[in-house]
Amino acid sequence: MTFSRSIKIAPSILSADFANFGAECRAIEDQGADWVHVDVMDGHFVPNITFGPATCAAIRPHIKGVMDVHLMIAPVDAYIEAFAASGADIITAHLEAGPHIHRTLQAIRATGAKAGLALNPGTGIEAVEHLLDLVDLICVMTVNPGFGGQKFIHSQVEKTRRLRALIGDRPIHIEIDGGVTTETAPLVAAAGADVLVAGSAVFKGGSVDNPASYGANIRAIRQAAEGAIGHRA
Ligand code: DX5
Ligand code: ZN
Repeated sequence: MTFSRSIKIAPSILSADFANFGAECRAIEDQGADWVHVDVMDGHFVPNITFGPATCAAIRPHIKGVMDVHLMIAPVDAYIEAFAASGADIITAHLEAGPHIHRTLQAIRATGAKAGLALNPGTGIEAVEHLLDLVDLICVMTVNPGFGGQKFIHSQVEKTRRLRALIGDRPIHIEIDGGVTTETAPLVAAAGADVLVAGSAVFKGGSVDNPASYGANIRAIRQAAEGAIGHRA
């Protein structure tokens, strides 16, 4: 993975057909997805349950590009090895998931995966300052984690702008997760985000038998984001 701040669209398979993950992953990549975003939920850190490392390992062969695994679980550390072994390129843990995020990020990097740090909407960016040397990606949650299809929280745009300033020249992606649409994508792109996760906005109106809608949705979000900033190298 070479670092670039160009806009990347990462469809979240939380909005895909759970009985058809392999075909869904192939369909979104064929239709222009840059990364595949995989939401892992434990019914404890967040009030919803999805799946674990065995499912990640099963879908890995169906993804040619980047598998971006978002862990909404607590505790995290005991499961890092298993998610790395499943073939995750990026493993993102939440700052709020436990008292030892520094150790968690070190443990992710030790597996050879890229380390991501997710921030809930209520969490400020102050704590990030001391973690910048340990992260490859910071995920700004623009909804409270747990469910797809929620409304974008606008206060997170200013937070993204401040985070972008804090990051400076460091090769750290800013990922936006939750409520990304053609209306909100320009706001976060202009604030400095480069990875846009989108679940409902990508999968709406499509299916593995009608994947062209996925492509149209991905292109519309990308165009809206790039329209706000111009094409970024
Ligand atoms: C929420 C997940 C998101 C979610 C986004 O907890 O982390 O990735 O699937 O879904 P939309 O784009 O529908 O808000
Ligand atoms: Zn997510």
